[in-house]
Formats: sequence, C-alpha cells, structure tokens
Amino acid sequence: MREIKVLIPEEKINQRLDELAKQIMEDYKGKDIMFLCILKGSIFFTVELAKRIKNNVLFEFIEVSSYENNLRTDNLKLSKDISQPIEGRDVIIIEDIIDSGKTISYLRDYLKNKNPNTIKVCSLLDKPSRRIVQIEADYVGFTIENKFVVGYGLDDNQNYRNLNYVGYIEI
Ligand code: IMP
Ligand code: MG
Repeated sequence: MREIKVLIPEEKINQRLDELAKQIMEDYKGKDIMFLCILKGSIFFTVELAKRIKNNVLFEFIEVSSYENNLRTDNLKLSKDISQPIEGRDVIIIEDIIDSGKTISYLRDYLKNKNPNTIKVCSLLDKPSRRIVQIEADYVGFTIENKFVVGYGLDDNQNYRNLNYVGYIEI
C-alpha cells in the first residue's frame, strides 16, 4: 500500500456535513428531496449526508465512465442509468469531486432533459484550478488545491475508497 497523507480528517468532514445538511434543510423546507448519487465515488458522501437530513430523501444512482477511442478522447458514457423517473422531483446530484467539470456538466444536462422540478449539485470536494468546463456546484464541502485525493469514496484505480478521511498521494 502506498503512503497516503491525511488532507481532511474524519472529524472535519463530519463537521462540514452537519453544516451542509443544515443548509439543505433550510433550502428544502417541507419538501421531499431526491439524492442522485454518482457511483461509485459519491456513495459515502451520499449516505453520510442523507443521515443528517430530516426531510424524506429518495435515492437514485447513476454511473458514468470515460472512454477513449481512435477518434475522440475524454468522452463520457452512461454505464448505469437511473431506474425511476425524476420528473417533478427536487433533485440534488451528489458528486465526490468536481475536477475538469466535464462529468457534472454532462450529467446535469442529461438529467435536466428528464424534467425534474429543480436540480442542484452538491459536491464534497472542488478543485477549481483544474476546470475546463465552467460549472459551479450549489453546495461544496471543501475547496482543495490541485492534489490527487483518495478516500471517503474517492479512488485511485478502484483502491482506497474505504478510508474514513480524504487523503492524498504524493505524485
Ligand atoms: P471531472 O469530470 O474532470 O470533473 O472529474 C470528475 C471525476 O473524476 C470524479 O467524479 C472522480 O471520479 C474523478 N476525479 C477527479 N479528481 C480526482 C481525484 O483527485 N481523486 C480521485 N478521483 C478524481
Ligand atoms: Mg472516480
């Protein structure tokens, strides 16, 4: 196992999740919320945030992967679609990290076409220095520098997702 340094310890994440949950409850008073979890990186964040919210929360899951071929690189495809309609729902897309912004802008456009009542984006982490597509989340846990992070759902080639903190690998 490679050496992983702690960037955001569990206590700090928990504190921030309490704040985010409070803010979301104020914004969605009396409403059901649909959490749209982007697999797999957002599973920990989705669950821990939802546990702190008193509104009724419904869950949906979607997975995107990037693929490359001879003609194009950096394209995204849906590898798992949602399984119930989101029409008329108040949807919050739950993301682990916004980096170039491509994943979240692709998904937001895709989901907007399905006519939700409202759609917002909540990301645990934000790396604005790497942005290619201009997009901002409505709720952000932590803004971080340009480091490759793992843990709390985030992976390095599918590894280290189960760390209870956000760490980084020196590259
Ligand atoms: P974007 O489309 O470039 O914004 O990238 C979003 C996706 O890339 C995230 O959902 C992550 O799965 C992955 N990603 C971006 N930065 C990191 C990182 O530092 N560690 C682990 N995964 C990352
Ligand atoms: Mg990933």
